[in-house]
Amino acid sequence: MSTPATTSSGCRVCDTHRLMPASRRIRPPGQAPEAGTGLRLRGIRRAFAGRAVLENLDLDIHPGEFLALLGPSGCGKSTLLRLIAGLDQPDAGQLDLSNDAGRLAYVFQDPSLMPWRSVMANVLLPLELSGIPAAEREARAREWLAAVGLSEATRRYPNELSGGMKMRVSLARALSIQPNLLLLDEPFAALDEFTRQHLDELLQQLWLNHAMTVIFVTHSITEAVFLADRVVMLAARGGRLLADRAIELARPRTRSTRTSPAFNRAVESLSALLHDGGTLP
Ligand SMILES: Nc1ncnc2c1ncn2[C@@H]1O[C@H](COP(=O)(O)OP(=O)(O)OP(=O)(O)O)[C@@H](O)[C@H]1O
Ligand SMILES: [Mg+2]
Repeated sequence: MSTPATTSSGCRVCDTHRLMPASRRIRPPGQAPEAGTGLRLRGIRRAFAGRAVLENLDLDIHPGEFLALLGPSGCGKSTLLRLIAGLDQPDAGQLDLSNDAGRLAYVFQDPSLMPWRSVMANVLLPLELSGIPAAEREARAREWLAAVGLSEATRRYPNELSGGMKMRVSLARALSIQPNLLLLDEPFAALDEFTRQHLDELLQQLWLNHAMTVIFVTHSITEAVFLADRVVMLAARGGRLLADRAIELARPRTRSTRTSPAFNRAVESLSALLHDGGTLP
């Protein structure tokens, strides 16, 4: 018989978005960034219609770490992210977060902006829902739109933006709540290579400037190696871990990192693993 699934705090998304007092949600200007959320997963199982997608999965993610989650289509990456976000519950196992009071943000492949709201109004939305005073939310939204290079576009509407700009709005919106844990599910997969590399560099910079844990799901080995402190690869079947590799490339990583021998060695070794053990189900 399987052990009952437990989480340390029930629905963390509710904790983040509804239950926490507004004063604890937003860091006051000038205050040093908090460390990100640490996670401890033990014996996680999630099955659909009797087929285990994740089975007996153990994983520790350190506070402030940038972790890339890699694996072939259908191996359970999004399932794992949804469990971590509290949007779904494991059938067995235990999932603990180091700071239950932490804020969590989730970025999807589709920027899912509200078409009737301006860029500014889209970024303001989570701050409005959090009950932040109007003057503070506006300053906060401007700060994050500047951080993603969109100060000049605050009055535009989503249909006036390129795909890369929409994704930058989505990033600003997620970061406006100053998350301790940022989950991204293939956020740049639909973008052209040039825009994708630009946004990878932007995301790295945002992470370097603001202490938070990042879990980044991608199909791209080069993107995973470029961004992550650590790459975890899920096998195509059975929900087991195929690899757990530290990526020890100096920060900040730049365009020249992508052509360095150490970068290429890391990419090649992960490619070989994916080829050997990650074949499509
Ligand atoms: N709610 C659900 N009901 C039934 N099956 C599901 C559900 N969610 C996921 N699955 C199944 O679980 C498996 C893993 O799905 P998941 O979306 O986690 O894969 P993934 O690794 O994110 O794939 P991709 O890279 O294509 O996004 C798939 O076989 C999928 O059909
Ligand atoms: Mg997915």
